[in-house]
Amino acid sequence: MTSTLTVTGLSASYGLASALKSIDLRVEKGRCVGLLGRNGAGKTTLLKSIVADPEITVRGDVAIDGRSLRKLATYKVARLGVAWVPDTRRIFTRLTVAENLDIARRRGVASDQLERVLEAVPLVRGLLKRAGYELSGGEQQAVTIARALMSAPDFLLLDEPTEGLSPLIVEQLQASIARLPEIFDLGVVVAEQNFRFVTDLADEVHVLETGEMVWSGTPELLVSDPDLVDRHLSVGEK
Ligand SMILES: Nc1ncnc2c1ncn2[C@@H]1O[C@H](COP(=O)(O)OP(=O)(O)O)[C@@H](O)[C@H]1O
Ligand SMILES: [Mg+2]
Repeated sequence: MTSTLTVTGLSASYGLASALKSIDLRVEKGRCVGLLGRNGAGKTTLLKSIVADPEITVRGDVAIDGRSLRKLATYKVARLGVAWVPDTRRIFTRLTVAENLDIARRRGVASDQLERVLEAVPLVRGLLKRAGYELSGGEQQAVTIARALMSAPDFLLLDEPTEGLSPLIVEQLQASIARLPEIFDLGVVVAEQNFRFVTDLADEVHVLETGEMVWSGTPELLVSDPDLVDRHLSVGEK
């Protein structure tokens, strides 16, 4: 049984351009960790470093229960139980939602996984027969999350799930994501610029600024420190 994803002394760069410096992060199954930071702070780079995106050069280590994920191909990281939902929300547009979910089920995952996923992300149930190209941005986001859950991961990395979505759909996504750690005994990492969303959801929050982790603590502590929020996060995030 895997239980903890750890990032230790991680630095990342694109060619010669450094994007992250000595990042430490720990995510336990059943918990939700939030990553907040302005545009360009390094949130996406951190998630991509965890899934060993080949575009990025990484130093330091990423491991699950002491087993290093470094030097593994991205698909092997996925097989070890890390699901990544990139900010692109790409689904197969010509397939139905049901087909999109079906092809994502890993071998060995129980046959009732679809039902469990639909219970956890109820928005998707009414979309099963629709084609990918018929979905709104919010519906696509819900489907990409449901699709990631089909592989029964131990860890789920969500990159800016609320970006560009209406408040109503953000609320629905928040309700779904909030229940995932407990329902699936899942460790969730959610990278966001949406301050409210993250501080409502997460058990622990990390603030990134220009590639460095500048603050870590509970959401309650962050919410109670407006100066800190002003210093490290953009106006409109509160
Ligand atoms: N493909 C890339 N090539 C070169 N630099 C990149 C690339 N993607 C991101 N960066 C740079 O890395 C830094 C962190 O970016 P990113 O991780 O996308 O931040 P965030 O997700 O917090 O907005 C920024 O300075 C950005 O310009
Ligand atoms: Mg990003």
